[in-house]
Amino acid sequence: MNRDELEPAIALVAERARAYLGSLDQAPLHVDGFEEAAWAFDGSLPEEGVGAAETLRRLVEEGFAASVASSGPRCFHFVTGGVTPAALGADWLASALDQNSFAWIESPLGAQLERTSLAWLRELFDLPADWGGVLTTGATMANFVALACARRWWAGRHGVDVDAQGLPGLPPVPVFASGYVHSTAVKALGMLGIGRESVRILTRDSVGRLDLEELERALEELDGAPALLLATAGEVNAGDFDPIPAMADLTERHGAWLHVDGAFGLFARVSPVAAHLSEGVERADSVIADGHKWLNVPYDCGFAFVKDASELMPVFNAAAAYLPGEDPDRPNFGFLGPESSRRARSFAVWATLQAYGRRGYRELVERNLRLAQRVAERVDEAPDLERLADVQLCIVTFRLRPPGVPDHELDALNARVGEAVLADGRVYVGTTRYGGRVAFRPAIVNWRTTEADVDLLVDVIRELGAAQAT
Ligand SMILES: Cc1ncc(COP(=O)(O)O)c(C=O)c1O
Repeated sequence: MNRDELEPAIALVAERARAYLGSLDQAPLHVDGFEEAAWAFDGSLPEEGVGAAETLRRLVEEGFAASVASSGPRCFHFVTGGVTPAALGADWLASALDQNSFAWIESPLGAQLERTSLAWLRELFDLPADWGGVLTTGATMANFVALACARRWWAGRHGVDVDAQGLPGLPPVPVFASGYVHSTAVKALGMLGIGRESVRILTRDSVGRLDLEELERALEELDGAPALLLATAGEVNAGDFDPIPAMADLTERHGAWLHVDGAFGLFARVSPVAAHLSEGVERADSVIADGHKWLNVPYDCGFAFVKDASELMPVFNAAAAYLPGEDPDRPNFGFLGPESSRRARSFAVWATLQAYGRRGYRELVERNLRLAQRVAERVDEAPDLERLADVQLCIVTFRLRPPGVPDHELDALNARVGEAVLADGRVYVGTTRYGGRVAFRPAIVNWRTTEADVDLLVDVIRELGAAQAT
């Protein structure tokens, strides 16, 4: 390792990144043989290293060939954001400065930017200013943070400090959700020892909508015993929302904890056009969202907010003689979330909010909503496509249904075309099962995406669909 390597390393990476990002709007999602290019990185640990220049050259030449242009405008798979210029620059600086955002004393900048970012996010999402918060690696860990606080509250209602004493002796935790609950909220329940199977899914139809009456009955049966309600603001198949105000009413009436997973749906609150969808979130006990989805900051980034800010510290504190103590003016975010040493994700969050402001994000969300409506219109016009759900937000759920193809062959056809779209690489989109039917579910949250991009999405699915159907 020698210092002379540094300048050429930075120059090479900046130069190649510039070229890559410059071509992102036109580039296919991957080149032919991209998986083989990834496998080529298999191999044993080198005895002698080759140095920074050769290593980075390999990464940009062979590595780029193994990557997917997922931050580009035509990646509609999962819910994938892009990276704004301000966020990218700030994220690079987070590595260059290599700030440990664990404790104020190691990075006053990282800690203060996190505090400011969280305050700005609360403003952006119209959440009360006194809620506690912390940046996480994503929505999975944000769900974990929020549900850890819920677990603490629940055990406290049984007279137990669960973070000190653990779960032994406590009854099973009653957890209720609709079929919209995200698999990572369930995963968080598993990680917390509450158990993945503890959640009772109360649905009234095949797509998973909440059975509110059944929820009310279940809470009445508990007769005042504390419970956790998991609401989803923006579910992954069609972008729909649980009835959060009604769930908040039940929470208040029965003395429960209401958690809202708004990984991308919380961004409905950024625009008056969509804010009604996420009404009632401000009445929850905890709410989370992702940064690497609609905020368009690089992986990895999420946020957790809890109404009672004092819940975080007893769950995540890690006191030791050599570590700093509590000081409200000098926050130590490593004591408010699961990681101790941690990346300064706040650089990118702060920078993108500073650069584009509330208006920039409102315009981004509204542009993406219009694009989703455009996809829906194109689908509705096409004789070989069938839309399966209303477009609430940024996801359009539809399938190929070419005339003449019998119903029982449609799932197989759509699954085959789904594979073909991914292999083709002009656009990227996954399939799901919605109401029992295999369907496409493009999600539109990238700041780069244009009308031409979403038109190409529909055209490619129809073209490959026609090829597969014959
Ligand atoms: C509603 C919801 N919750 C949680 C997650 C998990 O997010 P992450 O992958 O950032 O952990 C997602 C991801 O798509 C999601 O849509």
